[in-house]
Amino acid sequence: MRLPATFRRLILLTIACASVTFAQQGERLYKFHCAFCHGKGDDGMAANLVSPKLPHAPSDAALINIIKNGIPGSDMPASLGMTDAEIRQVATYVRALGRSAPQKVPGDATKGQAAFDKSCRSCHMAKGNGGVMGPDLSDIGLRRSPTNLKNSIVEPDANIVAGWSGVTVKTKDGKSVRGIKLNEDMLTIHVRTADGKIQSIAKSQTASIERAGAKSTMPSFKQLPAADLDNVIAYLFTLRGE
Ligand code: HEC
Ligand code: HEC
Repeated sequence: MRLPATFRRLILLTIACASVTFAQQGERLYKFHCAFCHGKGDDGMAANLVSPKLPHAPSDAALINIIKNGIPGSDMPASLGMTDAEIRQVATYVRALGRSAPQKVPGDATKGQAAFDKSCRSCHMAKGNGGVMGPDLSDIGLRRSPTNLKNSIVEPDANIVAGWSGVTVKTKDGKSVRGIKLNEDMLTIHVRTADGKIQSIAKSQTASIERAGAKSTMPSFKQLPAADLDNVIAYLFTLRGE
């Protein structure tokens, strides 16, 4: 059977449109449900998705699971109102993002490492070396976009990493213990102090517990010259858990 030429063209056009729509569907869903936090993938305020390795999503099943159920204890929400098929489309789109080239950041990572050693390492571990008063940053370049890193450095209070709230406990015998609250129940509070030691304080012995709440224990580095800031970000962006 020979179809009229215009009809054949129409069929080809329909097939082309359908496959384009399928590929674009994931992107469209992403823009609607995810871009608010993840931006284009590597310029949002949330995790960096332009990365071949996603710490929370080593497998496709894990990726689908976190899109569906969120990441408990973080700001990554469970998806509402997406069908399983749509979730799979978004997951495919996220994997495609992961294959795109990583963002080029301005700044010199070697100089950034020196600045990090001076201003940051006392609190932060990176590649097995550093302090414990802030989160380990050894894979921060996988987990955070450059925009997000900048914000963490300049405005630590804007988004405090879960589990890193500061506390000052005053005891009845006049001592003051300042640090990161590790855990707390009715009877005790555990605080990690700057020397890395964990203090367990009985509530019956406390005079007051002052919670930093929405204030980070990390000082803001707003005053860092722009070039130094770029260098530190370039260094952090190289930290990919290798
Ligand atoms: C309200 C903000 C928000 C929205 C909306 C959001 N996310 Fe997230 N997402 C986050 C945050 C914050 C994290 C980092 C959690 C952490 O590491 O503690 C995250 C983490 C992730 C991760 C894990 C990355 C890694 O490093 O392993 C993936 C994958 C992800 N999100 C995909 C999505 C997709 C796909 C959507 C849309 C369906 C979406 N997110 C919507 C905030 C959001
Ligand atoms: C006094 C200790 C201290 C110093 C010094 C410090 N930080 Fe932090 N940092 C913290 C703490 C505590 C947190 C977690 C609370 C928060 O999110 O603000 C944190 C969080 C971060 C985060 C976010 C981590 C994540 O998982 O999202 C980044 C990035 C960071 N710091 C980078 C730096 C850099 C770069 C410097 C040096 C220019 C620095 N910090 C200096 C204590 C410190």
